[in-house]
Amino acid sequence: MLKNKKTVYFCQECGYESAKWMGQCPGCKTWNTFVEETVSAKKNPSGNLKASEKRQDPVILKDISLSEDERQTTQIGELDRVLGGGIVPGSLVLVGGDPGIGKSTLLLQVCRNLAENQVAVLYISGEESLRQIKLRANRIGDFNDKMQLLCETNLEVIREVIERKKPDVVVIDSIQTMFHEDVSSAPGSVSQVRESTNILMQIAKGMGISVFIVGHVTKEGNVAGPRVLEHMVDTVLYFEGDRHASYRVLRAVKNRFGSTNEIGVFEMCNTGLEEVKNPSEYMLNGRPEDASGSVVACSMEGTRPILVEIQALVCQSNFGIPRRTAVGTDFNRVNLLMAVLEKKVGIHLGTSDAYVNIAGGMKMTEPAIDLGICLAIVSSCKDVVIPDKVMVFGEVGLSGEIRAVSMAGQRVQEAKKLGFETVMLPEVCKSSVGKPEGINLVYVSQIRDAISYIMRK
Ligand code: TYD
Ligand code: MG
Repeated sequence: MLKNKKTVYFCQECGYESAKWMGQCPGCKTWNTFVEETVSAKKNPSGNLKASEKRQDPVILKDISLSEDERQTTQIGELDRVLGGGIVPGSLVLVGGDPGIGKSTLLLQVCRNLAENQVAVLYISGEESLRQIKLRANRIGDFNDKMQLLCETNLEVIREVIERKKPDVVVIDSIQTMFHEDVSSAPGSVSQVRESTNILMQIAKGMGISVFIVGHVTKEGNVAGPRVLEHMVDTVLYFEGDRHASYRVLRAVKNRFGSTNEIGVFEMCNTGLEEVKNPSEYMLNGRPEDASGSVVACSMEGTRPILVEIQALVCQSNFGIPRRTAVGTDFNRVNLLMAVLEKKVGIHLGTSDAYVNIAGGMKMTEPAIDLGICLAIVSSCKDVVIPDKVMVFGEVGLSGEIRAVSMAGQRVQEAKKLGFETVMLPEVCKSSVGKPEGINLVYVSQIRDAISYIMRK
C-alpha cells in the first residue's frame, strides 16, 4: 500500500518547509519556530488529464479590455489610498496586524460603507459570536440588509454559502481559525492556513469576489503568521501602531494593483476608526517647546510626505559599554550615524548612552531622516535648542556628505503648509526644488555645515 501521509516541519513565521527539525529557520532566521505537521499527499487537482488534452490558447494582450470604473470605493479615503484607489473585483487582500489593533473594526466599517452602496457583503467570523459582532457593529453605526453575517470555520461550508448567496465582497475574520477537513493538522497551522488561502483564492478568482482575509501577527506560540501567505494574495496590508496610543497606521507591503509603501493613518475612537486626513499635523501634536534633542524631519510614505519629530537623549554612560536604543527607526542606522558624527565631525559619543525615538510611535526607515537623527543627537549632546520652525531632511553618507533624496519639492511644500519657516535640505536638491516663496531654504552639503548652522542659531 502506498503511504500517502508524511510529516514535515514548517517554520511558523515564514512557512519554510523542511524534512527535519531545525533550531533556526534558514529562511527568516528566527529561532524555535519549527513545528511538525502531517501533510497528506494530495492528488493533482487537474485530475488525470494529459497536457495535450487541456489545450490552451494564448490571448493577444492588446485585445484585453478593461473598464475604467472597475474599482469599488470603500468610502474610507485612507484605505482607498493604500489599496491603490479602491477594491479590485476578484482580488485577495490580506489585512495583518497584532491582535486587538483594530482589523475587525476597520473591516466592519468597510462592510457598512459597501452595503450602503448596494454591494452585497458577507462577513464570516470564526472568532466572535453573532452577538459580539452585533455589539461592535452598534458602536460603528447602522447597517442595512445588504450586510450578512456568518459564524463558521469550515471552509467547505463557507464555499457552499458563498456559491449560494453570491456576495460581491467577503471578509474572513481570521484565517487562523479556518480549517479544511482534508488537512489533518489543527486550525492555525501552516498547512491549514495555506490550504484555506488556496480555497479562498479559487473562490475569489473563479467567481470574481473580492476577499479580505484577516491574519493575526503572532509573536510566538503555535499559530502560523500572515507572512506564510503573503506570496499567495494580491495585496498585503499591515496595521501597525502602539496598541496604547490611539492612532494606527495601515501600510501596504505588497500590492499588485497599486504602489506599495503607501500608508493610511487612522485614529481609534469610541465609534470605530476615524481617518486622519493630515497625519503630519497629528504627529507633531504636543511637541515640546525649546527643548534640546528634538527636531522635525520629513519622510516620504508612498506619495505623501509626513513630518515627524525625532527625539534623542544623549547622556554620560555609567557603565563600560554605552547603551543605545532606537525606537521607530533602524538601530543599526543610528549606530552608523553616530559613528559618522564621531569620526567626521569629531563629536565624542563613545562613552555616551544614546536613545533615539520617533515621537508618536511611527516606524520610519527612509534614509531622508538621517539628517534629522544626526541633528537631534548633536542637539542633545551639546544641549543646543533647534528652533521649532525648522524642518530638516537629507541622507547622510559615510564620509559625512549630505546626499540627495527624492521628491524634495513636495517635502518643502508640506513644511510650508504646516507653517515651518526654514527647511534644511541637501545642496544637490537645489535644482529640483526651485525657488518656493515664503520659506527659507538652507542648503547643506556636509554634516559639518548642518551642525555649525544649528550651533550658530
Ligand atoms: P479589533 O477590531 O477587535 O481588533 P482585531 O480584530 O485586530 O483583533 O479592535 C478591538 C480594539 O479596538 C479593542 O481594544 C476596543 C477598541 N475599539 C474602540 O476603541 N472603539 C470602537 O469603536 C471599537 C469597535 C473598538
Ligand atoms: Mg478581530
